[in-house]
Amino acid sequence: MRIYKVGGAVRDRLLGRPVTDIDWVVVGATTEDMLAKGFRPVGADFPVFLHPKSGEEYALARTERKSGRGYGGFTFHASPEVTLEEDLIRRDLTINAMAEDDQQNLTDPYHGQRDLEARLLRHVSPAFAEDPLRVLRVARFAARYAALGFTVAPETLDLMRQLSESGELQALTAERIWKEISRALMEDQPQVFIEVLRACGALNVLMPEVDALFGVPQPQAHHPEIDTGAHTLSALEQAARHKQPLTVRWACLLHDLGKGLTPKEEWPRHIAHEFKGLKLIKAVNERFKAPRDCQELALLVGEYHTHGHRALELKPSTLLELLQSFDVYRRPQRFEEFIAACEMDARGRKGLEERSYPQADYLRGAATAARSVAVQPLLEKGFKGPELGEAIKRERLKALKAYKETASI
Ligand code: CTP
Repeated sequence: MRIYKVGGAVRDRLLGRPVTDIDWVVVGATTEDMLAKGFRPVGADFPVFLHPKSGEEYALARTERKSGRGYGGFTFHASPEVTLEEDLIRRDLTINAMAEDDQQNLTDPYHGQRDLEARLLRHVSPAFAEDPLRVLRVARFAARYAALGFTVAPETLDLMRQLSESGELQALTAERIWKEISRALMEDQPQVFIEVLRACGALNVLMPEVDALFGVPQPQAHHPEIDTGAHTLSALEQAARHKQPLTVRWACLLHDLGKGLTPKEEWPRHIAHEFKGLKLIKAVNERFKAPRDCQELALLVGEYHTHGHRALELKPSTLLELLQSFDVYRRPQRFEEFIAACEMDARGRKGLEERSYPQADYLRGAATAARSVAVQPLLEKGFKGPELGEAIKRERLKALKAYKETASI
């Protein structure tokens, strides 16, 4: 039995990046050998085991062949005769198809090291096409390693295009796709993920609503970059630069979907795009079964981002409605995330990345003012039921009027 470190752990060590989890491949062993050594099988019919102490994954060397559509459509063959080279050739990228023994001797039959140096994400063999999820994986790696200068090899992009056009992406489950999207959005340059998906035609399949934003103009006065797709990518880029959480990044990606629905005659204006976009945001949310907090924030940011930008001009009654819509009294964190998404939207414009965004503090102040209304004195005055609700609203409105006056001095 020979044991090798494989995949991301080898790649990231060679890149000088921190290695988080290690995958191992075992050559020359049977399931019985593994069980005899105390390894625990992961699934009933997959030759992967967990180490009895470290809990790391050890997989028997295997070959794989696609036997149908989707993830289930796989047959694999694991036996002590399968060589390391045979196991490595079924993997996605050359930089992920290197193995290392305990002396750090590298086995690199498909020239992963050469591609690491050339900063290329290149598929190992035509077997790449056997798992369409790899289209998203490559886009995610492109986002992660963009800062190091990595790009997708042209022949790999061609293959990704063929896969996108073949309809194979539709066979992927929402859960697997969301896992890739959410990980990619949390990379340092998530906009590269979207760019790569777009370049190979996968964006048009997965999120046609986002793809449709490219080529749609906006008024130059507010959007020097003009193109709505370019603006969306910049907003996402800013969100990553400012270390925003997934919820905010997801909301930035979807905030302007309504602009893709504007009739050309109305360009570059987009009247009521906030409202028109809601059904599209809902559709994308549901397509990938995004977590509830991501879904909620995307919808709220879609509907109210223009309110955020116009915060200083809003009437106290409109401010109050905004705060009520966010249930800012019970969900203060969600309102903070809304403010952050608005700020990223405002900065995600060409040449305006460093602008100040006074709306943020203004909105925070408004939330504090509305929250400062105490309920106890109203209870003591005898208000209850719907009347109490109305009385609280009146007091909050008063507080917001006073806030607006002092804030504008
Ligand atoms: N792999 C593959 N195709 C996939 C998934 C995984 O070829 N669809 C192979 C690659 O060799 C990869 C290894 O399995 O390096 C481990 O997969 P995984 O842990 O998902 O990815 P890592 O490369 O370790 O990357 P990350 O840093 O994102 O975890």
